[in-house]
Amino acid sequence: MALKNLRKTLGIRAKFIIMMAILGVIALVGIGYGAYTFSMQASMKEADTKARMMEAYVKAGRAYFMKEQRPLINALVEADRFYPELQSGFGITRRILDQVQEKALLGFQFKQASLVPHHPPNKADLFEQSIIKRFQVEKKQELTGTVDKDGKPFYYRSRPIKMAGGDCLRCHKDPADAPKDLLELYGTDGFDANFKSGDVFAAYMVYVPLGPAVEAAKTQAAILFAGGALMTVFGLLVIYFFLDIRIVKPLMELSARTQEVSVGRNLDKSLLSAKMKDEVETLARSIDRLRISLVKMLKRRKND
Ligand code: HEC
Repeated sequence: MALKNLRKTLGIRAKFIIMMAILGVIALVGIGYGAYTFSMQASMKEADTKARMMEAYVKAGRAYFMKEQRPLINALVEADRFYPELQSGFGITRRILDQVQEKALLGFQFKQASLVPHHPPNKADLFEQSIIKRFQVEKKQELTGTVDKDGKPFYYRSRPIKMAGGDCLRCHKDPADAPKDLLELYGTDGFDANFKSGDVFAAYMVYVPLGPAVEAAKTQAAILFAGGALMTVFGLLVIYFFLDIRIVKPLMELSARTQEVSVGRNLDKSLLSAKMKDEVETLARSIDRLRISLVKMLKRRKND
């Protein structure tokens, strides 16, 4: 009811402005949301590239170690000795990546997450356990996405790690088979008697921080929204005054003059004024012709 009354009392100018303002807000929300989405998509692509670069480096380092270094090292080290810093590919990668995330790439996280790790910090957390589960069930070669860690958003890339045969099992399945040095250094917790060749039991995890990208995307969207809102308000003001000067005021004047004529006052004065332009002027001319005809008719009547 109140809305109906309001609709009646509002003039053409106010209705037009309200309509344009509503359309403007809808457009601005769309633009802001679009800007945020595009910006985030670009950031995700960039994060993916960074993660792939990291992965490529780790992969190449691992391949080089396995093919060139390990045979030489194993030949040099006594058969019953084991130095993880020299002989474990995963151990070497972990030590290098720990340095990378501590010094060079602050905010990034790399992990060789295992369900049953030798090195306790490698223990898969709940999220990583779910990723390893998915690798076991879905048989995918990689999984990517976003995840919140301690309230901070990250882009992650992960690849499965499999028990690639007897060599892996020797150090991960049964403490009795493993080098004595390994047991001394790591204890016997990181073994699982159920491990079989081919089991996915761990995953490479690369986490690229998205916090700065989210902030940048939000700022960009906010600037676009605020700038657009400012321009819309300015545009609406210009339209408001244009409607006021060119349509509403001339129409009100024409209406007042027509009313005067209708009650017989100022019958000889033209209805037109300098303010009436365009269609309003056309309308005023038509009504003025009506006034002239009326005056003529009245004069004829008087003469009769
Ligand atoms: C000679 C023993 C040995 C062999 C063989 C071995 N590993 Fe390990 N592995 C280790 C040790 C020791 C660590 C812990 C390194 C560290 O200090 O981070 C480790 C760490 C890992 C980790 C990280 C999680 C954890 O346990 O801390 C994964 C994953 C892993 N190994 C998988 C494999 C796979 C797959 C193979 C076969 C291709 C393999 N390992 C062969 C000794 C071995």
